[in-house]
Amino acid sequence: MRTDVVRLGRLSGERTGEMMHFLSSMRADRCIADADVLVDIAHVLMLDKQKIIDRDITKQLIPALLELFDEGIPEEVFDDRFEDVHAGIETLLIGTIGVDVGGRMHMGRSRNDEVATCIRIKLRDDLLKQMAALLKVREVLVALSEKHTDTVMPGFTHLQHAQPTTLAHHLLAYEQMYSRDFDRLKDAYIRVNLSPLGAAAFASTGYPINRELTARLLGFDGLVTNTMDAVAGRDFALEVLADLSILMTNTSRLCEELIIWSTSFVKFVSLDDAFCSTSSIMPQKKNPDTAEIMRARTGSVFGAFTGAMITVKGLPMSYNRDLQELTPNIWRGMRDAKECLRLLIDMLASATFDTERMKEEAGKGFSTATELADTLVRNYGLPFRTAHNIVGRAVQKGNLSLATLDEAAQELCAGISLAAKGLTQEKIDEALDVTHSVALRKAPGGPAPFATKIALDERRKQLDKDSTLIDDRLAKLAKAKDELISEARRLVA
Ligand code: ARG
Repeated sequence: MRTDVVRLGRLSGERTGEMMHFLSSMRADRCIADADVLVDIAHVLMLDKQKIIDRDITKQLIPALLELFDEGIPEEVFDDRFEDVHAGIETLLIGTIGVDVGGRMHMGRSRNDEVATCIRIKLRDDLLKQMAALLKVREVLVALSEKHTDTVMPGFTHLQHAQPTTLAHHLLAYEQMYSRDFDRLKDAYIRVNLSPLGAAAFASTGYPINRELTARLLGFDGLVTNTMDAVAGRDFALEVLADLSILMTNTSRLCEELIIWSTSFVKFVSLDDAFCSTSSIMPQKKNPDTAEIMRARTGSVFGAFTGAMITVKGLPMSYNRDLQELTPNIWRGMRDAKECLRLLIDMLASATFDTERMKEEAGKGFSTATELADTLVRNYGLPFRTAHNIVGRAVQKGNLSLATLDEAAQELCAGISLAAKGLTQEKIDEALDVTHSVALRKAPGGPAPFATKIALDERRKQLDKDSTLIDDRLAKLAKAKDELISEARRLVA
């Protein structure tokens, strides 16, 4: 077993396994291990270019690092005794190529800027994956909406039948929320993709390093300029976790609706069996467990966000080891949100909507009463409040027949006769018709099929733009990585 090269000089005495495990970030470091190799390569190339190390040192360091890149990092690196993957890799290199070469890699940097750089590299990849998953969810919602622009259903406020709407209108509300989630992550990426490297412990270094060079080699769009901020700041991660928490809130609401919609008293949707479980005692049961677990996972993401917030809130400048405890929250929050989104795509795409049931419910609970009041205003010149009161009173009496409406009108405004003003049962029936009521609501963003088609056109265009943005960012990162590795290979060829 190799000695931990970092502790060697200053500290003595054996530590218990429990102690080493307690201090170590190795488990979470598996997430950033690949990034660490890239950071090492970029750092060494920069040291070489700046003539901080000699070319013959570079020619021994780079092949050792390329081997880790090509073959993967050996398991022995992940030993708790090294505390983290950065010290593990350095220890490995010193063991294999000797301290005179391996011992020069860490010039002009610290694990503090190293870990911050690795986190940002891994996080930007995760962000793009998450954005791609979000895009798919939105595509499914748009595709379903295209099929259901004319599918009337009840719209609810207070979970009471309120006004008729369409399934497309309802689903597009979620697409809009997810579109904003997408925008938030897209925006967070701008603050994530900046390089802390070169900040060293926090005060940078006296070596003539080139921070812009390592930033460019690693595909960053710029620097986290202030070197104290670079090692101590974690608001970029808090921002992402906050965005994921909001995203999960939206997911949880959607799941809640799918759960309600799949009950036998609502029956608006039937989820594919693959996403459901049964009971060990009740043979008839089909339970929407996937949606339930997603609803609960939302809490885990909030937990990751809260954990991270509380970790930093009391920390003085600059690096404190507490920051090591924050990092697993990032990966946990990401993983939970990513798992949910991936499954949500297929859960939505494979769901069967019972359009007959939706239609059956659309007109219940006097859901078109607003349209009837509007008709009294439009055709018979009543003030809206008067019309609202008359229809409300008729509902209280139990029906919306001409006779009842007139009775209500008499009670509320003596002397008024709606029949005398020309109101007929036919007019009333037209106003109460669900399809008619929906078709009239064609203001931008409204449920009328006419308005929905315009909205869908616009959403399709936005999806295309968002997809291009992800592709561009991915291509830029892939190109930087390619160039970094080719430059390393060229140097030692
Ligand atoms: N493993 C640490 C982290 O995840 C980085 C090491 C910094 N250690 C230190 N003692 N300054 O944040």
